[in-house]
Amino acid sequence: MVEAGLIEQITELGWKVTFDGHHQFDAVDVKNDPPIGILKNPRLVSRVTQAVAQAVGDQVRKGVLPVTLGGDHSLAMGTISGSLSVHPETCVIWVDAHADINTAESTGSGNIHGMPVSFLLGIGSKIEEFSWVKPLLKADRLVYIGLRDVDAAEKRILRENNIKAFSMHEVDKYGIGKVVEMALDHVNPNRDRPIHLSFDVDALDPSVAPSTGTPVRGGLTFREGHYICEAISETGLLVALDLMEVNPSLADDDSVRQTVQVGCSLVRSALGVFVYLVRRDNNNQCIIP
Ligand code: ARG
Ligand code: MN
Ligand code: MN
Ligand code: MN
Repeated sequence: MVEAGLIEQITELGWKVTFDGHHQFDAVDVKNDPPIGILKNPRLVSRVTQAVAQAVGDQVRKGVLPVTLGGDHSLAMGTISGSLSVHPETCVIWVDAHADINTAESTGSGNIHGMPVSFLLGIGSKIEEFSWVKPLLKADRLVYIGLRDVDAAEKRILRENNIKAFSMHEVDKYGIGKVVEMALDHVNPNRDRPIHLSFDVDALDPSVAPSTGTPVRGGLTFREGHYICEAISETGLLVALDLMEVNPSLADDDSVRQTVQVGCSLVRSALGVFVYLVRRDNNNQCIIP
């Protein structure tokens, strides 16, 4: 996405952009990383996401809006921890085909990208390696849009924790405009809380975004995906953005080009002009202009 010109495109929108470079996480040197239970690459994931939490938190604290391009959605453990460390009242809009809310007990795959939300909520058994992740996210500050591939155990977790989710069924039923409005009404009824948007590109239909690790048919259209970004931009409350699971090593050149383009385009939509309007008072509360 960076090679495709994303920095120039955002600059063109009027933003002053600082590119941090492709994080190499030199400090993260994991030579031996056997599974913990069935969790794969636990030390690597923990240490990278912890470094990401620090980097994102530092930017949010300065009033800079961090855009994190991924990469595995386990990264959101870091990005959302970073946002919440600065603004504890932050609400999270998680756009995804998947709920990514498995716990260490419930995961069938052992892929940590299927688990970040449970870590952020502090549900499931504690894993020492991830003890740095503080359970700062409240279940009623989280809302999903786009779900269509949710494990049975995840459905139970969503129900037990009373977590609001708008699956593709609700997108079909109500239309995307109404769904985004209902989602915002749930997590941000007075439109005064900072918003962290975590957008997994696999929320889009695979015909729109094919180069991703776990594509699922029946996803958001090009416009529905963009509408979500535009509507959140319009609130003026966006404090951090993740665009995740773009994987240029998967699929043919045309598919990669298409996915990278759509990723850039979603980021541009989320960074529409209205975000300039965010102001904060002495108590760090958002001021709606
Ligand atoms: N629910 C499945 C799992 O736990 C799929 C998760 C897919 N998540 C992702 N970020 N691609 O493995
Ligand atoms: Mn992944
Ligand atoms: Mn995801
Ligand atoms: Mn997904």
